[in-house]
Amino acid sequence: MSRTYLSPPDVGRVERDLLIEAFDSNWIAPLGPHVDAFEREFADAVGVPCAVALSSGTAALHLALLILGIGRGDDVVTSTMTFAATANAIAYVGANPVFIDVSPDTWTLDPDLLEEELKRRARRGHQAAAVLTVDLYGQCADYARVGEICERYGVRLVEDAAEALGATYGDRKAGAFGECAAFSFNGNKIITTSGGGMLVSRRRDIADRARHLAAQAREPAPHYQHAEVGYNYRLSNLLAAVGRGQLQSLPDKLARRRAINDEYRRALRDVPGIAFMPEAAYGRSNCWLTCLTVAPEAFGASREDIRLRLEREDIESRPLWKPMHLQPAFAGRAMSGGSISEDLFQRGLCLPSGSNLTAAEQANVIAALAATSAARGQSARGVAHA
Ligand SMILES: Cc1ncc(COP(=O)(O)O)c(C=O)c1O
Repeated sequence: MSRTYLSPPDVGRVERDLLIEAFDSNWIAPLGPHVDAFEREFADAVGVPCAVALSSGTAALHLALLILGIGRGDDVVTSTMTFAATANAIAYVGANPVFIDVSPDTWTLDPDLLEEELKRRARRGHQAAAVLTVDLYGQCADYARVGEICERYGVRLVEDAAEALGATYGDRKAGAFGECAAFSFNGNKIITTSGGGMLVSRRRDIADRARHLAAQAREPAPHYQHAEVGYNYRLSNLLAAVGRGQLQSLPDKLARRRAINDEYRRALRDVPGIAFMPEAAYGRSNCWLTCLTVAPEAFGASREDIRLRLEREDIESRPLWKPMHLQPAFAGRAMSGGSISEDLFQRGLCLPSGSNLTAAEQANVIAALAATSAARGQSARGVAHA
């Protein structure tokens, strides 16, 4: 059997046809009809007026912070439980990341810690320039609370929705909460363009500025005229064509990821020591990755035992994100709390969750996971068979 990957690309005939059509049209450039159409269709899918197609989610985060005027010496409060790109973008603009632990109930930015942080800063007269939330593994941060806290302290809100396309908070979609939000179309995301990203915003002036800066800040002139430093961040028309095809099947991909998540929960619900990422009542996750934690005493084996066992069976799984405050690149940065994310990193695992995962592959993952405790002298207790 071939290797089972964590979250591989799931592309098909529609993407192929659109890509060939884009190729044959000779719009092989970081602009063209597919870029314009992808932006319109994506904005509709998220429920925001403006979207700007970029070369990566990281580029979208970078431009978002830059356009909001965040720069050298500013503090940006963000979740420690994230991929490095969130914190890197803060560093790109010369600002300081201030890390906050996550809530055990959602694994996203803890609103109580955020409130304490902004209150302390208000007292000292040194408020943060922005809060950058992360919609982790496809679950929205608690926007009613986070939004209210940001508003009360007059701090701007930016959303890292890289992992969360299609997730909801109440009746709104991930990406609709910050002044700007960033999405990723990296190869492992719920939809992919191999590499790519989108900056979305309610504000047209922000979108126009992002388009300008992403195209080397080139001024409208017959020669090459630049009034400021720009970036080469636009998405190619070829990749936008792939993205349009991917977007058409987003509802199917969401349904499939949800079904995979449901099946893991069903099959492992009675296994001692296994707990899944909580799904907050305020919304619906896009189930990008199914994540769980392992209590070694109760399960009879550790997270690493499971990961290595899966690896021996040619199944890819990953520890949860290593918190940013534990990363050497961000050593010595301000941090509030930390025990929740450290524990998640120690005991957490992401399971294969791709929308093209077959039922047989998933059954193998479940059997291998359960067999890890059996191999440690316990019976494979609690696995529910379909
Ligand atoms: C939370 C988070 N932020 C940002 C990114 C960066 O996106 P990209 O890889 O498209 O630059 C990713 C994924 O890669 C991510 O998971």
